[in-house]
Amino acid sequence: MTPDPAFRDDVLRGLRQQPPAIPARWLYDERGSELFDAITRLPSYYPTRTETALLQEIMPEVAERVGSNRAVVEFGAGSLTKTPLLLEAIQPALYVPVDISGEYLQASAAELAGKLPGLPLHPVVANFSDAIALPAEASGLPSLGFFPGSTIGNFIPASATDLLRHFRAVLGTGALLLIGMDRIKPVERLLAAYDDRQGVTAAFNLNLLHRINGELGGTVPVDAFRHEARWNDVLSRIEMHLVAARNVEFSIAGELFRLAAASSIHTENSHKYGPRSARLLLLAGGWTPLAEWTDRAGDFAVVLAEAHPERFAP
Ligand code: AVI
Repeated sequence: MTPDPAFRDDVLRGLRQQPPAIPARWLYDERGSELFDAITRLPSYYPTRTETALLQEIMPEVAERVGSNRAVVEFGAGSLTKTPLLLEAIQPALYVPVDISGEYLQASAAELAGKLPGLPLHPVVANFSDAIALPAEASGLPSLGFFPGSTIGNFIPASATDLLRHFRAVLGTGALLLIGMDRIKPVERLLAAYDDRQGVTAAFNLNLLHRINGELGGTVPVDAFRHEARWNDVLSRIEMHLVAARNVEFSIAGELFRLAAASSIHTENSHKYGPRSARLLLLAGGWTPLAEWTDRAGDFAVVLAEAHPERFAP
């Protein structure tokens, strides 16, 4: 298999910097996506089931606010449990899932079509952070962006703001956005969600090293690394690291790397937001919050926001 040059460049560049870090998007090869799927079913990983139950509960209200006949643009291929809840409730004119993996997109679109026959489906193969050409059928229709799962939390605030601005540019002024955002909660619960007893998150994180060895001909001694989840209170985020248990030396694409015992490779951030910081992030990204809902425990929030016209003065 020819190595993906972007993967190779990100890994080499990331490991050359201090402290070493590799962009989280490379966690999701086929095995990584399977492991992430398994994570979403873990008892300690609360976000997926909490957001799903919340969406179910609030859908009548969302439908009332959003109205029917919108073009729904989902950033990511969409979950076969969460997406139908929205589409059934609001009766859109069009559903446009946007995902980088054409194969995955086709498979999930086919399953969705089986679940919701008659739904006009227009999948778009693209990285949702890049330029997106919406299908002609969407032009002139009011739109609703859907970005569940707290995926926004995997972006540092500066990039999250850029991404939200990009969504605004894709959807246009007057568009609505329904977005899931994980809330700050006691550290023990956060750590349990990102370092489960079953070791699934550890396998998900360590899979990145297997992927580097397999795809880039690396010699990383995977068993010399362990998964660690850390809460960074200043930056309000869970961090995933791969910590070296001993001094290690390895090569990737002919380049030699050394890591001292106890140092780590930073592999993912998952930012958590309080109500005010969530609203501020949306506003900074060009979205005015209209309504927000949380589960009873306040573990997870879903926010509906609108792309108001930019104002010249307060
Ligand atoms: C995809 N994303 C929202 C997950 C999260 O919770 O940040 C990724 C994840 N990483 C480890 N567990 C889950």
